[in-house]
Amino acid sequence: MSEEIRIGVFVCDCGTNIGGVINVPEVVEYAKTLDGVVFADEGKWICSVDYLNKIKESIAQHKLNRVVVACCTPRTHEPIFKSALKEAGLNPYLLEFVSIREQSSWVHRSDPAAATEKAKELVRMGVAKARLLEPAEEIRLPVGKEALVIGGGVTGMSAALALAGQGFKVWIVERSDKVGGLLNKLTRIAPLDIDAESFLQGIIERVKAEPNIEVLLNAEVESIEGYVGFFKVKVKQGENARELSVSTIIAATGMNEIDPTGLCGYGKSPKVITQLQLEEKLKRGDLGGAKKVVMINCVGSRNEQRGCCNIGCLTSIKNAKHIKELDPQAEVFILHRGLNLKGMDEVYLKDAMEKYRIKFIKYPDDRLPEVSEEKGGLTVKVFDLLLGEEVKLSADLVVLTVALQGDESVERLKGLLKVSVNPEGFYQEAHIKLRPLDFSTDGVYLCGAARSPKGVRESMEEAMGAAMRASIPMARGYVESEGIVAVVDEERCVGCGLCTKVCAYSAIRLKEVEGGKRKAEVIKAICKGCGTCAAECPKDAINIIHYTDQQILAQVEAALADKPSEKIIAFCCHWCALGAVDVAGVSRFEYPPNIRIIRVMCSGRVDTRFVERAFELGAAGVLVAGCEFPTCHYISGNYKCKERIEKLRPKLAQKGYDPEKLWTVWLSAADGPKFVATVKNMVEKLGLRR
Ligand code: FES
Repeated sequence: MSEEIRIGVFVCDCGTNIGGVINVPEVVEYAKTLDGVVFADEGKWICSVDYLNKIKESIAQHKLNRVVVACCTPRTHEPIFKSALKEAGLNPYLLEFVSIREQSSWVHRSDPAAATEKAKELVRMGVAKARLLEPAEEIRLPVGKEALVIGGGVTGMSAALALAGQGFKVWIVERSDKVGGLLNKLTRIAPLDIDAESFLQGIIERVKAEPNIEVLLNAEVESIEGYVGFFKVKVKQGENARELSVSTIIAATGMNEIDPTGLCGYGKSPKVITQLQLEEKLKRGDLGGAKKVVMINCVGSRNEQRGCCNIGCLTSIKNAKHIKELDPQAEVFILHRGLNLKGMDEVYLKDAMEKYRIKFIKYPDDRLPEVSEEKGGLTVKVFDLLLGEEVKLSADLVVLTVALQGDESVERLKGLLKVSVNPEGFYQEAHIKLRPLDFSTDGVYLCGAARSPKGVRESMEEAMGAAMRASIPMARGYVESEGIVAVVDEERCVGCGLCTKVCAYSAIRLKEVEGGKRKAEVIKAICKGCGTCAAECPKDAINIIHYTDQQILAQVEAALADKPSEKIIAFCCHWCALGAVDVAGVSRFEYPPNIRIIRVMCSGRVDTRFVERAFELGAAGVLVAGCEFPTCHYISGNYKCKERIEKLRPKLAQKGYDPEKLWTVWLSAADGPKFVATVKNMVEKLGLRR
């Protein structure tokens, strides 16, 4: 016998934030009329300790088995209420969160009647979903104490030392025959002009002396299977292969110069070289008799393809000084587009100008200096911004400070690690501000020049950071993942395997079942619950716990139960899209009250059935809002969503719906104004009454 649904609805005044606009008692009375609601109450501050206790008491007193809170935003307050449910002995996934502050009182404050009506409908949608909520379990996975570091440069070794120092076993996999990476090629480290060789030697000695570190040279990662706590990594070392079992992985694969052939005469004359090629000459202490050296900075960078390389200016000054030390009579020019120096680099620059007499010429962004070979020598034509005219410099050697790119191994490893790479060939972090050293894949981290061009000091600092991130689950001994995961209905599944292809985390595989058939199987521990698989499944054989098809469709139906032709249904991802909605609220930007937001974890979850159902019920329009590209919190959900929506348009037209009424918007979490503009635009284009 199925249990009786007993929903409690708690509506917050939030002081005057909600209560000053919305008629909260009216919302509470309305909530009491909804199917399944056995208790509804108004609270001044429902997230206060006192009121949370009241919620817990109410759960016991009224035997509540579902809770709806109507208050601020789930992005900040959901965990507080989930904990309260847990403490009251109720599964936390039996909570539904309705945002009547960010989505109503703050954004419709000059129309309290409309704000109140909308709040009632948002509660109705919440209750409709709550009726269908099911308990879910967080999954706890054990995590061991072994880590893998890919890349044996100074970054990889520093990360390994930081981990080993905490007692973790670390393998360093290095594909060349020696550790040290790019530092092997450098002479000095700026801005202190530390001798690169002895500095590197010091680190190598520490690695050698550390019993917890094992270095595998001439070794390449061949395959990686598993997930945080259970990675099986196949490493090939010459003819031999071995399998490592590790809990966490750090990618420290470093960077390289781009090939500048065709730029500033590179490739035409052997006298045009890169900074790394210059380092070789400096190491030998032999400039080949060059007396006039011209360095050209920003070659291949600070253009439409690439940003500033961050370290080129300092590198050019360091090497220019070194040339002058080898030959004080040499003349050195640095042609630049504005020097990117920080902190004590400025002192370094002053020294280069005043003590070493290095000459600097600033050239414009759109006029890269030209290099030509004449009578055995080189001529560099540069537009001097200070003089306002072109000058010609003769040179024996031209050194290009070229753009940097991620190591070539990144292309191959990104598939094995299941991570993204940016157009410059560097790994893409999970979030540039919130999780800069994490990948979206749990248990895999990145640091140093594998992430973006960096100097030695910064790379080593990041190595510490990545090691600390990796040590958290290893020290704790477990990771806990959300209960929001995909589930497969084996009856419906035909084993087509489409879900396995669209899952960005490889969290679905096909298993053999009786009769030689194949069925999809979710590896819950690594499923992130984005819902892309569910939306793509042609047989509707996959559902997402807490965001099931039935729950979302119930919200659509509740939203359109009356006056559907005045409503826009908006499917917003929890991350950037809802973030933008919240920013619009916090900023008190007003927009027409026609929109009804349905939260999904990722835009990838938006099934075409949801959109079609909204039109079937007479919605004026549908908006699908996700993260701007490429920042989906589930790697590629927004791309999949976009493709799906484009394919849906002609189908909608065939069914007699106007595809122009289906809109999409891709937002950053700060894009409140863009969200508001989209709503206003839709309302206007759809000819809706505000
Ligand atoms: Fe926002 Fe995927 S999380 S679109």
